Amino acid sequence: MEVLVTGGMGYIGSHTCVQMIEAGFTPIIIDNLCNSKFVVLDRIEALTQVRPLFYQGDIRDESFLDHVFSQHNIQAVIHFAGLKAVGESVSQPLAYYDNNVTGSLVLVRAMCKAGVKSIIFSSSATVYGDPERVPITEESPIGATTNPYGRSKFMVEACLSDFFHAQPDWSVTLLRYFNPVGAHPSGTMGEDPNGLPNNLMPFIAQVAVGRREKLSVFGQDYPTVDGTGVRDYIHVMDLADGHLAALNAVGRQAGLHIYNLGTGNGASVLEMVDAFSKACGKSIPYEICPRRPGDIARCWAATAKAEKELGWKATRTIADMTADTWRWQSHHPQGYQSES
Ligand code: NAD
Ligand code: UD1
Repeated sequence: MEVLVTGGMGYIGSHTCVQMIEAGFTPIIIDNLCNSKFVVLDRIEALTQVRPLFYQGDIRDESFLDHVFSQHNIQAVIHFAGLKAVGESVSQPLAYYDNNVTGSLVLVRAMCKAGVKSIIFSSSATVYGDPERVPITEESPIGATTNPYGRSKFMVEACLSDFFHAQPDWSVTLLRYFNPVGAHPSGTMGEDPNGLPNNLMPFIAQVAVGRREKLSVFGQDYPTVDGTGVRDYIHVMDLADGHLAALNAVGRQAGLHIYNLGTGNGASVLEMVDAFSKACGKSIPYEICPRRPGDIARCWAATAKAEKELGWKATRTIADMTADTWRWQSHHPQGYQSES
């Protein structure tokens, strides 16, 4: 079965393509490489012995999309393409709304023309804002987002939900990821942020490998186990498997399907630092700093809905996440940079 994967050269998309190929799907990748490297295609091929078809182009280019759809018998779309840096979204909101919202609308329009009626969209736990209660169920209120990136995810969710109500024969799946971390266990593929990492795990990994002096821990006065922020970190391979589960369980079933993809467990910043130290065999220097504006104290997923309806559950542990990240980072201190 041919599945269009937008943003398939990126962090989550590349790992998902590997798992898709292993499961017998044929991913067809579209990516403009604005945040990824061509060499990823070689890595997917090396792991699977299959070189996926790749079209370099932009999801906002409708004639490009029409061309790709016309060349294949695409049955479903997994839509990863978008911009994801929270801080950058504050300084460049138009770029975020254009890429994430307009891009998604252009994609759905092209799907309509091509008669492809199944889309799986990369949403985020950020749509829940600061949750009143944890674990966060799919019925928790959404929309109280604090930045343009989060609002763009909420807006695409709203557009796709409205669209589904007008076209109830479609399968629209919204997957709300918690905090994706980790790397392929081979150590050949992983996360490769541009510049200073915004997120915790890549920052710790770069400290461990000597690219950064120390970690800034943003706040130790939260009402949590040790005062630092608590999140639901999920291994990118589990996340990839979650997409396959969604594709198999609901991707061909008309409906609006909404799932959290998380582990159901929270870990604090200091717990992650400790786990990473064990994985790399070094201590991770850090200093306690003021809270980062917009951060919440704690957030983890209720996982029962995905378990029951998708038959999917995250299985990899924090020890797996840190060991796999370290394998990738220590073998590729500069990420994909020096290799494309
Ligand atoms: P990523 O930046 O590694 O991958 C996104 C890919 O999309 C990149 O390869 C980029 O080049 C491509 N892209 C961006 N805009 C494009 C466009 N207009 N046309 C074609 N290609 C384009 O990011 P990721 O971490 O793999 O995230 C994938 C998706 O999951 C994103 O939509 C992101 O917002 C969402 N998400 C990510 C996280 C996270 O922490 N990584 C959490 C929640 C949700
Ligand atoms: C962030 C984004 C969120 C996005 C998610 C993707 C913000 C406010 N939120 O979430 O919209 O969907 O990434 O994964 O940016 N931390 C440090 N030092 C660091 C980096 C992080 O102490 O250098 C702490 C944070 O305060 C937080 C935890 O580590 O408590 C996790 O942070 P991060 O990895 O950035 O993820 P989120 O804040 O959950």
